[in-house]
Amino acid sequence: MFKESDVAFSFETDILGAGAYIREPHDNPEIPGIFMTSAFNVEDLDALEARYATKGFCYNRYRNPNRATLCELMTYLEHGEQSISCSSGMGAISTALITLVKAGDHILADRIMYSETKEALEDILAKFGVETSFIDFTNLEEAKAAIRPNTTVFYMETVSNPLITVPDIRSLADLAHANGAKLVVGNTFMTGYLFRPLDFGADVVVNSLTKFANGHSDTVCGAITGTKEFAMKCHHTQVLLGTQADPFSAWLTQRGIRTIALRVRRQSDNACALAAALEKSPYVKKVHHPSLESAPQHELAHKQFGNNYGGMLSIELEDDRQKMNKFMRSLHFAHYAMTLGGYRTSLAYPVLSSHGSLTEEERLSIGITRGLLRISCGIEDTEDLALFKEIVDYEVHPAEWVTTIGKRTGYLSALYLLNDDYAIMAYMPIEIAPATILDDMED
Ligand SMILES: Cc1ncc(COP(=O)(O)O)c(C=O)c1O
Repeated sequence: MFKESDVAFSFETDILGAGAYIREPHDNPEIPGIFMTSAFNVEDLDALEARYATKGFCYNRYRNPNRATLCELMTYLEHGEQSISCSSGMGAISTALITLVKAGDHILADRIMYSETKEALEDILAKFGVETSFIDFTNLEEAKAAIRPNTTVFYMETVSNPLITVPDIRSLADLAHANGAKLVVGNTFMTGYLFRPLDFGADVVVNSLTKFANGHSDTVCGAITGTKEFAMKCHHTQVLLGTQADPFSAWLTQRGIRTIALRVRRQSDNACALAAALEKSPYVKKVHHPSLESAPQHELAHKQFGNNYGGMLSIELEDDRQKMNKFMRSLHFAHYAMTLGGYRTSLAYPVLSSHGSLTEEERLSIGITRGLLRISCGIEDTEDLALFKEIVDYEVHPAEWVTTIGKRTGYLSALYLLNDDYAIMAYMPIEIAPATILDDMED
């Protein structure tokens, strides 16, 4: 297709063009390549116009093959008509909201959600004359009462960060529509594999694909999914704001999503098992996970999600920095991470991370205490995850532990209280465990 010159130019010129085009057919690689190019070539002005007319690839900020394939995948995953992919979850949220609102509009948003989304509403949209009221979306009456004639958007997360509350998506979609507003749902904690807000009446779904969707904690990416018409409008906003995903991130994210069913199913099941185990600990004051019958929205969650409750939970421990540090240091394979949704279990402390920008008063008013830890379950063996409970019970509060607790594969997870202030800590290989301990565990 491209002219090849038989004229030899100087090295400085020829070195720029040699090997610039793939000569052999390369139409159907098993996995699409990564199109790390800012632009595409055309031969002449006719070809340029033809490229525009067919919405072909011209300039990376407009379209790129890796984003195009990721968008197709996201549309399938979320049951939408069309998607656009963005530089991050925040890129998706801001692009969708900016596309939807105009000066003078009012947004109703959940009071519990990722705090940077709250900041975007308060610090950016407010500057352009869009006001937001933060309310408890688990309370339909409160939502009804907060609607104004100029309310154009409801914004919420399927499962809120970090308290894992669950709003009733269908009822809120009906309420929004009855008042001429659109429902935008952040589906980051669930992903379209576990739950599809569009099937429940939402108008737009935004995702941070950085989290469970990609699942490998190696890239930052986001997406908006909705109707074709809305996706086109978002694309226009995105072209002007420059919020698109770079090709490599889009490619990595697409690769991650391929295994979503295996990972996210396991993460969700692990979270259910861990929540149930931690609820039994006398040292865990509260466990937030919708799978628990004690959860305020358990019935609704079951109706809405089936048994897919998601891989995120949070727990409230004693507000004691030293004990929290000890807990984190003792967790073997689970680490503190400033992200979530990866294949390894990780934890975060909302007071210093996701909700660090809120004042103490704001945090406490929505229930985010200094004892709150958010846990993102990975795909580890479920029994290994139960270590969390052993650690809170027997390492963080050792003086109260007076018995052995069980053998793990090849290891003894045991702690013997010798006297009031000294304990022998184990997680020792069985072969070196004292016979007295092993005898005690024979049953
Ligand atoms: C629920 C939720 N939405 C959106 C975001 C923002 O995603 P990103 O970091 O990809 O911009 C996060 C980030 O933690 C989140 O937890």
